Amino acid sequence: MDAKDELDLKAQELIKEARSRVTELDETAKLLLFKAARSFNGWKEKTVSDDQLREVYDLLKLCPTSANVCPIRIKFICSKTAKKLLQPILFEANRAKTMDAPVVAILGNDHAFFEHNSFLAPHKPQGIADRMQENPQLVAPWANLNGTLQAAYFIMAVRAVGLDAGPMQGLDKEAADRAFWEGTEVKTNFICSVGYGDETTVFKKLPRFEFDQVCEFL
Ligand SMILES: Cc1cc2nc3c(=O)[nH]c(=O)nc-3n(C[C@H](O)[C@H](O)[C@H](O)COP(=O)(O)O)c2cc1C
Repeated sequence: MDAKDELDLKAQELIKEARSRVTELDETAKLLLFKAARSFNGWKEKTVSDDQLREVYDLLKLCPTSANVCPIRIKFICSKTAKKLLQPILFEANRAKTMDAPVVAILGNDHAFFEHNSFLAPHKPQGIADRMQENPQLVAPWANLNGTLQAAYFIMAVRAVGLDAGPMQGLDKEAADRAFWEGTEVKTNFICSVGYGDETTVFKKLPRFEFDQVCEFL
């Protein structure tokens, strides 16, 4: 293995220090993130600050993607003017509840992610860029896999900062691309309302598969 430099050692120290303080989330944290968390369909009249949204991003950005390609791009729709752009693009069933949300995040995947290769992978600045140029059929699956992973991290980060999420893909994505990502290679993945969820708006919890139905020990 190569010799470790100062930054490698610092990263290792950070993990050791964190592990000396916490080894597992406690039950209340699991409640907040998983067991009591829901997809919301209505929102309390409580505003969300820019700082909270910055914190959401600052958490999700740390989670892993293949070769660190980080393709997610986010437009936080906060103003009435920006919401008006979104309104006609939403499927009817999603329109009222989305317009009612304090913030709606448009989660897009940048299909030009490899242009940032030298910043995101300075140890191998052309590796992914060359691979994508030689195999352009890989661009869309890489953007979609990694962008969707980051979108899932987004939902969990929203919950981690004490907010609620309402993910939705019921919208005209091509129209959203024209309205929000014009002149870029970003393609809309799905949208996610963010705010303080109104508990009276959640639907019945739908069934989930039990471990033995979908998992196997080999
Ligand atoms: C990618 C994605 C797209 C979704 N699209 C919609 C949608 O268009 N409209 C809607 O009402 N709910 C939508 N949902 C919400 C799901 O139906 C909901 O998350 C699921 O039933 C689980 O609900 P729960 O988190 O309350 O258990 C979507 C969820 C995800 C993750």
